[in-house]
Amino acid sequence: MQNFDFYNPTHIIFGKGRIADLAKVVPADARVLLLFGGGSIKKNGVLDEVHAALAGRTFHEFSGIEPNPSYENLMQAVELVRKEKIDFLLAVGGGSVIDGTKFIAAAANFEGDPWSILEKRGSNVTSALPFGSVLTLPATGSEMNNGGVVTRKSLKAKMAFSSKHCFPLFSILDPTKTFTLPTRQIGNGVVDAFAHVMEQYMTYPADAPVQDRFAEGILQTLIEEGPKALATPDNYEVRANIMWCATLALNGLIGAGVPQDWATHMVGHELTAQYDLDHAQTLAIILPSMLRVRKESKRAKLLQYAARVWNLTSGDEDTRIEAAIQKTQTFFEQMGVKTRLGDYGLKADSIDTILTQLGAHKMTTLGERRDVTLEVSRKVLELSL
Ligand code: NZQ
Ligand code: ZN
Repeated sequence: MQNFDFYNPTHIIFGKGRIADLAKVVPADARVLLLFGGGSIKKNGVLDEVHAALAGRTFHEFSGIEPNPSYENLMQAVELVRKEKIDFLLAVGGGSVIDGTKFIAAAANFEGDPWSILEKRGSNVTSALPFGSVLTLPATGSEMNNGGVVTRKSLKAKMAFSSKHCFPLFSILDPTKTFTLPTRQIGNGVVDAFAHVMEQYMTYPADAPVQDRFAEGILQTLIEEGPKALATPDNYEVRANIMWCATLALNGLIGAGVPQDWATHMVGHELTAQYDLDHAQTLAIILPSMLRVRKESKRAKLLQYAARVWNLTSGDEDTRIEAAIQKTQTFFEQMGVKTRLGDYGLKADSIDTILTQLGAHKMTTLGERRDVTLEVSRKVLELSL
């Protein structure tokens, strides 16, 4: 096992009716800014519950944080924070709202050009406003991690950052609030969480059996529960299990002490920035091809994955590996997320554009062995057509 630091201060408040607990966890004298997206929380009653819990507090609102939140929009919120002397942020929504809030929290305290937070991936963040979240879409794990992804639309640059100052103080996870998710977002969430586990598990053996078994347990639970969420959307237990899986998939636990990949995510971010695909759509396209192209360096873990997650134990090694990758791809399709560039209208001419952007963002030595060069990314994209 590799050396590691594991630090996670986020208080998780899980279950039905827990939004009322905001009254206990938002500081009573805080000047709060409530941040949310395009209005789903108005339609499904979440905003009313938040308002009720914050009754008597001083709060302002900033709405319109878009999926794949934009730097341009988030900077408007930073201005509001400064103008209204806000000292506590409350994100209510999915990963985009929570990521956007993390950036606002860091940028509000930042001296200098806030874009450099993204350019330096968060390493220059020395403080952030305190914030909490009410999660409405299980997918990203943003509710219990210190990372965020922000897009500068004018540059078509989608960049990730992280900082130990950007953990939510608390996150409220009420699975009943996910009942109103559109089918597309249910599928996206399950695929994203699945991909997060794979980025931390599907590398090379590191003598970390408990991390491996946690990871395999999350993958198997997503495989079992994901299709049930599509078939029986009002099933509380199914939603609760998916919600907790998504949080555990990216809260640092399964990634401690093991090598990590993240090449699929980095190529995927360029696809979103250029062509506006949903985050999980990009992962469903890239992950199967990434595994096929890098089969040799991932061979041992691919065989372990085939046996333990998909019960594939007979046939020669290459047959088992291909069957496991095919089952992964079929699972994404079963969740309603298409797995080919062509399914989204993208053709071979998009590949050079993506490679140019990867180069511009210094994404030229990706993966757990830093061997995913632009040539490897080209092969992956070609195989994804
Ligand atoms: O904007 P509203 O109206 O709220 O609608 C949202 C949005 O259109 C809707 N939605 C959310 N909860 C709902 C709901 N609709 C009905 N009922 C509900 N309960 O869903 C749509 C998508 O929301 P979004 O927040 O964009 O989705 P997601 O949670 O998948 O977040 C994606 C973003 O997170 C980043 C992605 O790159 C992308 O920008 N990621 C963040 C990570 C992190 N912080 O660790 C890791 C991930 O790999 C990922 O990169
Ligand atoms: Zn992701």
